[in-house]
Amino acid sequence: MTKARDFVGPYRLARLIRTGHSCYVWEAVKEATKERFALKMLRSDVAKDRDEIKHLKHEWEVAKDLHHPNVIRIYDFLTEYHSPFLVLELFSALNLKQVLREGPEPLAYLAEKIIQQSCHGLHYLHQRGWVHCDIKPDNMLVDDDGNVKVIDFTISQRSKRNLLSFLGFKQPIRGTRSYMSPEQIRGETLDGRSDIYSFACVIFELLGGRPPFTGSSPNELLEKHLRSSVPTVMVHNKDVTKECADLIRRMMGKKRETRPESMWEVLQEFRNIQIFSKKPQPPEFKLSQLDTGPVTDADALKQLPRAESDQDRDKD
Ligand SMILES: Nc1ncnc2c1ncn2[C@@H]1O[C@H](COP(=O)(O)OP(=O)(O)OP(=O)(O)O)[C@@H](O)[C@H]1O
Ligand SMILES: [Mg+2]
Repeated sequence: MTKARDFVGPYRLARLIRTGHSCYVWEAVKEATKERFALKMLRSDVAKDRDEIKHLKHEWEVAKDLHHPNVIRIYDFLTEYHSPFLVLELFSALNLKQVLREGPEPLAYLAEKIIQQSCHGLHYLHQRGWVHCDIKPDNMLVDDDGNVKVIDFTISQRSKRNLLSFLGFKQPIRGTRSYMSPEQIRGETLDGRSDIYSFACVIFELLGGRPPFTGSSPNELLEKHLRSSVPTVMVHNKDVTKECADLIRRMMGKKRETRPESMWEVLQEFRNIQIFSKKPQPPEFKLSQLDTGPVTDADALKQLPRAESDQDRDKD
């Protein structure tokens, strides 16, 4: 029996993929065509919160015209139902953070592909004039074959490459501390090179199993990004080559002028080096079979108020 509250407009909610701070991400089926989508929907407790709606709308504005195999498609932004939501391409894969919970070893044989596909996606985003601003493992989906989709454009900004960094207004700091570039921490104008820094932190974690900097307090962590010398990933994984470790360090230059110029340059550099000194072997299990812990939030369904237009379906 299909309940009204399983529906949001034309979409039947099939499976809760993730619960976030302000959003639920659902796998949903458009009943008319049987196509599957992901719906990123504001939780009902913040469904009327102006800022939250603004963030979701912003994500739509950023991504509605983006078409690239390594960037998630966003098809629609709907506000006429009980909670505003985005309609996204469904990519049935875990995010990189989930996959890394078992450590970096099972991913080693896919590392080259994951890095290259991420570079392609981010290069495309930069060419379209955007800086992602929140590149981290949670915001990259990776399937069993190492295909990558960059997601979550909530805090993406227009690139301000040609503006001097100290011009313009200081911005409130937004981003994720473990992956934030020094200029993002200082609230300066951003360009693609900030994503290069954050992406280097992701690669460090992909190969070494932990981000380059950790701290016992948020401030300590930010201080390290601003001032501590960048560690080499070889300390955490002795199979990583020195040329790869050096490239990661260069991508994490404190001054953006010292980093590779563009994501395209990063891609070319990775194509010219070896990541590991010996060829990694595939694990005996599929990444998608990893136990990622519970995602089902029993409250998610209960929280959905009944949509008036859907009442009739209760009779099914
Ligand atoms: N299109 C999609 N297909 C499959 N899974 C997705 C899709 N979009 C998001 N997800 C899953 O939902 C998670 C959260 O999505 P997203 O990063 O867009 O939301 P969020 O804004 O980070 O949520 P919050 O910050 O509130 O935790 C992702 O890490 C991923 O696991
Ligand atoms: Mg996210």
